[in-house]
Amino acid sequence: MQLRTQGKLIGFVPTMGSLHEGHLRLVDVAKEKADVVVVSIFVNPTQFGPNEDFEKYPREETADVEKCEQRGVDIVFAPDAGEFYATNFSTFVNEELCSRGLCGDFRPGHFRGVATVVLMLFNVVRPDLAVFGKKDAQQVAVLRKMVGDLFVPVTVVEAPIAREEDGLAMSSRNRYLSAEQRKLAPRLHATLQAAVESVRAGERRAKAVQEQVAAALGEGEAFRVQYVGVVDAETMQPVEEIAPGRTLLAVAAFLGATRLIDNVDL
Ligand code: PAF
Repeated sequence: MQLRTQGKLIGFVPTMGSLHEGHLRLVDVAKEKADVVVVSIFVNPTQFGPNEDFEKYPREETADVEKCEQRGVDIVFAPDAGEFYATNFSTFVNEELCSRGLCGDFRPGHFRGVATVVLMLFNVVRPDLAVFGKKDAQQVAVLRKMVGDLFVPVTVVEAPIAREEDGLAMSSRNRYLSAEQRKLAPRLHATLQAAVESVRAGERRAKAVQEQVAAALGEGEAFRVQYVGVVDAETMQPVEEIAPGRTLLAVAAFLGATRLIDNVDL
């Protein structure tokens, strides 16, 4: 509270903990843009489906707090799961455009849970800006829309996808991969890059790009593709024709039981 009255700009990085370099890069972005950086650690139950990995989701708060300290985070906010949601909680935020399609089709209620908890966190932390990773591009689109529609006084900043050296997008779920699956995983990004090349070479048909990606990932049967979407980069709604700079290629695929997502701008 005092920090705000002193005119300090407050940057916020909401996380579900189990922090890796990808999260810490979000912290770096927040530090560049704000005077004070707050990180929240909260595994949000309302954004997990009944058959998803809420119980199994890695929790390592002590190590997370240490990582935050080392990276220069000023405040860590880690509410207790039982305390953050009131027992009679009954108010949810439903964004109804950007949350349609892509992950929204396969994770019913997910973006409702995300939008709700992010608004709750914004109301408690009261940041000037909040940084989210582009790996979850649909999440960023949903939150930008929520902030715009509901006049939430927070600037949403999108940070680039942090990748391992071999191209795999960093994710807390990568740790679920076996050694063999980990070797195969970078193919996801390589396949998206190949699609970027096709578009650079003049391909504009969304369907052709979708088929190219699905076929490349289907080879060898390692990946089980959930979706390949070619969408408007702002609304996340499908397009037929690619408009370079305004179109996103997003994919979700399983390697064994682990669901990976990735995306590129076309
Ligand atoms: O991206 C995440 O880790 C979560 O969806 C978020 C934004 C922290 C909300 O729980």
